[in-house]
Amino acid sequence: MIRKLLKMWILLRPTHWLILIALCVLTCAGYWLLWSEIRLERAFKPLSKLGESLSPDQHASSSTDDFDYEEHLVVLYNRVPKTGSTSFVNIAYDLCKLNKFHVLHINVTANMHVLSLPNQIQFVRNVSRWNEMKPALYHGHMAFLEFSKFQIAHKPIYINLVRKPLDRLVSYYYFLRFGDNYRPNLVRKKAGNKITFDECVVQKQPDCDPKNMWLQIPFFCGHAAECWEPGSSWALEQAKRNLVNEYFLVGVTEQMYEFVDLLERSLPRIFHGFREHYHNSNKSHLRVTSSKLPPSESTIKAIQKTKIWQMENDLYEFALTQFEFNKKKLMQPDNKHVQKFMYEKIRPK
Ligand SMILES: *[C@@H]1O[C@H](CO)[C@@H](O)[C@H](O)[C@H]1NC(C)=O
Ligand SMILES: *[C@@H]1O[C@H](CO)[C@@H](O)[C@H](O)[C@H]1NC(C)=O
Ligand SMILES: *[C@@H]1O[C@H](CO)[C@@H](O)[C@H](O)[C@H]1NC(C)=O
Repeated sequence: MIRKLLKMWILLRPTHWLILIALCVLTCAGYWLLWSEIRLERAFKPLSKLGESLSPDQHASSSTDDFDYEEHLVVLYNRVPKTGSTSFVNIAYDLCKLNKFHVLHINVTANMHVLSLPNQIQFVRNVSRWNEMKPALYHGHMAFLEFSKFQIAHKPIYINLVRKPLDRLVSYYYFLRFGDNYRPNLVRKKAGNKITFDECVVQKQPDCDPKNMWLQIPFFCGHAAECWEPGSSWALEQAKRNLVNEYFLVGVTEQMYEFVDLLERSLPRIFHGFREHYHNSNKSHLRVTSSKLPPSESTIKAIQKTKIWQMENDLYEFALTQFEFNKKKLMQPDNKHVQKFMYEKIRPK
């Protein structure tokens, strides 16, 4: 009985195969017909109705992302020491509760300006994912870090301030000796040292070495080794490129109010009320380095002859030109009305 069935099955095998192949051909033809019909239908459908024929999956990937730019706003201020950054950050600390955003200080051990590789990836992921802190303003004395190397979908918005390089150096020089009125009782590194900046330059002491001015260039240049080579023209070019390509706004210490004004107009979610607060509060003007003597004419001349000063000043002038340009473009050519923009001629209706 079983043998008979087996024999029948063996005999029937070619017929089975034929049936299977026929079924396959039929199914494929059916699918092809259906698909070409859909394509034809789509080709003749008006544009506005196209979305309806997409599956939910296709729809999600083709529509714009629903990223909430206001509530996920992250501003990164990699402040350069002695550029007036404390005054600015103080406004943020005064208004963060009212404006409902967080301010976070990035504290790197030993005041290092370059992050280690493990810290880079941890910092970048942390800033991007820490939603409870958003909107957020992060600030710290660290060099520019390019977020696009780390699989990050939404980069933070970089801002910064620059200051005339000699002013910054002199300010730093006296700050190390006398501190400031912000934390008057904190004993600074060089407390008790009474040598003026002028005397220091004459005696060619290390504290006033023009190499100490090489700071704004590497801060904008970033985490590459070459950025930290005093006098590197590659670093200067990289700093300039980052300044225009990667920074939303770079202000100058000498025009703090205008910097705050542009920020408040562009990113009110965080900077609302900063202008008025800066204008009225005493605290924002608070940090003044004590016992600062302006350098003499001969000191200024000597410093300006150095390559480092010339390059740092080049970056400062570059930043200033860009800042003036941004300020100017805020207004219409009549200088009385702010520039506006809108959409029109929207087709198809
Ligand atoms: C950074 O952290 C260290 C160690 O906790 C601390 O001693 C230092 O005061 C902090 N720096 C600032 C600027 O708060
Ligand atoms: C970010 O870092 C802080 C401090 O280390 C931690 O408390 C927080 O959970 C981290 N957040 C994310 C999303 O990684
Ligand atoms: C600011 O300073 C002035 C004197 O310089 C003082 O009269 C005023 O009360 C201060 N305002 C605040 C908010 O501390």
